Amino acid sequence: MAKHAHSQWSSRMGFVLAATGSAVGLGNIWKFPYMVGQSGGAAFVLVYLACIAFIGVPILVAEWMIGRRGQKNPINTMAQVARDNGHSTNWAVVGAIGVLAAFLILSFYSVIGGWALAYMRDAATGAFIGLDKAAIGGAFEGFLARPAELLTWHSIFMLLTVVVVALGVSAGLERGTKLMMPALGVILLVLVGYAMTTGSFGQGLAYLFNPDWSKLDGKVLLAALGHAFFTLSLGMGIMMAYGSYLGQEVNLLRAARTVVIMDTVFALCAGMAIFPIVFANGLDPAAGPGLVFVTLPLAFGHMGGGLVIGALFFLLLTFAALTSSISLLEPVVELIEERTPLGRVAATLIAGITIWALGIAALLSFNVWSDVKLLGMNIFDLLDYATSKFMLPLAGLGAIVFAAWKLDQQGVKAELGLGDATFGLWTLLSRYVAPVGVLFVFWSNL
Ligand code: PFF
Ligand code: NA
Repeated sequence: MAKHAHSQWSSRMGFVLAATGSAVGLGNIWKFPYMVGQSGGAAFVLVYLACIAFIGVPILVAEWMIGRRGQKNPINTMAQVARDNGHSTNWAVVGAIGVLAAFLILSFYSVIGGWALAYMRDAATGAFIGLDKAAIGGAFEGFLARPAELLTWHSIFMLLTVVVVALGVSAGLERGTKLMMPALGVILLVLVGYAMTTGSFGQGLAYLFNPDWSKLDGKVLLAALGHAFFTLSLGMGIMMAYGSYLGQEVNLLRAARTVVIMDTVFALCAGMAIFPIVFANGLDPAAGPGLVFVTLPLAFGHMGGGLVIGALFFLLLTFAALTSSISLLEPVVELIEERTPLGRVAATLIAGITIWALGIAALLSFNVWSDVKLLGMNIFDLLDYATSKFMLPLAGLGAIVFAAWKLDQQGVKAELGLGDATFGLWTLLSRYVAPVGVLFVFWSNL
């Protein structure tokens, strides 16, 4: 009895850790702040939070529910669950979009993971000590201008991801999450504390939370929606794949609450650490993907203990990125394993090398290929746009429409343990609010 209870606990714990490990990553610390800055601040933040609560949570739960029923990779899961419920197996396309998106995202995610590695070395060797904003900004620009160096770090990060997935030691990494994630949280809090000493903390808070609604347009809506998907690892079949390992005893709503709160707290703390530094130093909030790599080194270069704190911060950021990148590689590898005679190691190598090669195109768009444009975007921007602003919302829409309109809703009510009133709320959110929200944002961009 006791043993049974313990194994349930550890399986739920393992599941929540894996899902949180996938969710919390570069999306929170690197991408969220620079998107806030590019979108003009609080209006984006509030729409983003609404997208998380009213669209992200229902879709997260829907993906887990579908995954738990299907017990396969996202493509076969969608086909299987559709067939079981008397629907067309064409629903498999939802899973297919997701796996393709995971493939594309990992290519540039690994490039940024490489930046974190490079900055870990710089922080540890004291490279930021005493530098002013011009020197730190210049160092970052210089770094971007050296493709060979970017390639080295991208390759190391991708190699780490491949080794973990090929050896199948993700479970060990997830256990590490239990230690590393709180540690990253503590360092972020230290940085928020430092931000309070800059004299611009109030300005940073106002920028994050006091909306100027004139900043809101279709583009900002789409950016907020897309980032809600990216940050929660939705629309990629990843949460669906995790759902397939899930026992019936796990309470999905409670698990969703944990994952979403963790993810949101990390993002907001990153924002509260970064924007006061931006304003105190007269930096440009709309600087783009380099924002965190300029602001935080500035802090590390000037705060007491900055050398250790900076090195530890980038180490833990790399770790968080790694628990996300393995979750991006897994579904691709599983698919290759299932559809070809290749074993796990060979499948991981093939997937890893292909994604690595695409990542080279992404990193070259910061330097020698910066003028290579498709649809007005360089390759990095195009990869980001096609996935976050198109494929993820589309696949997420498919998942929620399927779960809310194509599954037996009494079964869903029982599975989620809902009473009549909460079931009414769930129905409202999953059938109407979430799908209409996604469609509205798409429509406002036409
Ligand atoms: N959610 C991760 C982050 O915010 O960094 C990124 C990510 C991981 C996106 C896994 C998608 C994914 F499938
Ligand atoms: Na995230």
